[in-house]
Amino acid sequence: MKVYGEPTRSIRSLDNGTAVEIVDQTLLPYRFEKRVLGDWRDCVEAIRTMRVRGAPLIGITGAWAVVLAVKENPENDALLKAAEVIANARPTAVNLSWAVRRMMSTLLPRDPALRFEAAVKTAEAMTQEDVMTCRAIGEAGMTLISDLYARLRRPVNVLTHCNAGWLATVDYGTALSPIYMAFEQGTPLHVWVDETRPRNQGLLTAWELGQHGVPYTLVADNAGGQLMQQCDVDLVIVGADRITRRGDVANKIGTYLKALAAVDNEVPFYVAAPSSTIDWTLNDGKREIPIENRAASELLVVNGVGSDGETRTVQIAAPEVAVANPAFDVTHNRFVTGIITERGIVKPTDLTAVFADLLPKA
Ligand code: MRU
Repeated sequence: MKVYGEPTRSIRSLDNGTAVEIVDQTLLPYRFEKRVLGDWRDCVEAIRTMRVRGAPLIGITGAWAVVLAVKENPENDALLKAAEVIANARPTAVNLSWAVRRMMSTLLPRDPALRFEAAVKTAEAMTQEDVMTCRAIGEAGMTLISDLYARLRRPVNVLTHCNAGWLATVDYGTALSPIYMAFEQGTPLHVWVDETRPRNQGLLTAWELGQHGVPYTLVADNAGGQLMQQCDVDLVIVGADRITRRGDVANKIGTYLKALAAVDNEVPFYVAAPSSTIDWTLNDGKREIPIENRAASELLVVNGVGSDGETRTVQIAAPEVAVANPAFDVTHNRFVTGIITERGIVKPTDLTAVFADLLPKA
């Protein structure tokens, strides 16, 4: 996608895989800055601090982290230790452990001397696959928007939560990919963008949509229910961090409440995600998906930019205020109208049939 008119991706390899370049998302939307990571520990830091974020992008960053670990030391002991740390940098998005597992299953059978070349090749292939997958998600999902437009004959109002755009993947995004593609095809639409406290990923979504000229309105997280009651939302599309085999969905905190409001107001609630977000080992999402609890400090401050253009962090509550900060919640499959995947739109309960070839062998 484009930033200030320039084609840009959220991550790319540099110097034959000896470093990676990311967009530092902690500085957005105030500053667009890239950052070069030359050590696998820098990748782990970038994932933990959310310089890179979003399930698919975390996975691809994890793959490149493995490449940098091989560059440092390709022997089994060192590589296995690094892989363990990388895979556990954040707990909820399953794409991270999926990516590290895929890298390691390619590397471990090889002679250590040949591992670096194989690692670069595999990480590059995964990076390109992510782009193609997100495109396919966009192509599958855009018909939801164009079909609604054909019926309503006025701009289609889509509500989204968090950021599941190109910043959260390598390119295009998951939830935003159908929106970008419908918009490019000329379907009139408008996006309600949830602010998404405490990390305000909605500001990333607003920035992305603004860069591409897609009409949007930023709303406070709690506005969705009211908008749906007023019939101002035709469709909800969100991303996912982990989906169970029966189609329960973990996504950014607040997603579940949007799903409840959508069901109460008969608004279709879609989840857009690649198959790498499906955890075939889990069934009951509420009981089994690990939910990340992040630092209390995230709720006690807001980040912004002063009139001098400098970014600032401002304290909004006393440091001793008691805080709970679960970063994700789980939406039961009964609230999910469909999952937009690279293989088309799938009913949550049909995932195992549509992706039968990906199920782990018993
Ligand atoms: O904590 P984050 O910003 O990494 O969480 C990202 C999300 O929850 C996104 O909404 C989700 O769609 C996954 S990314 C496509």
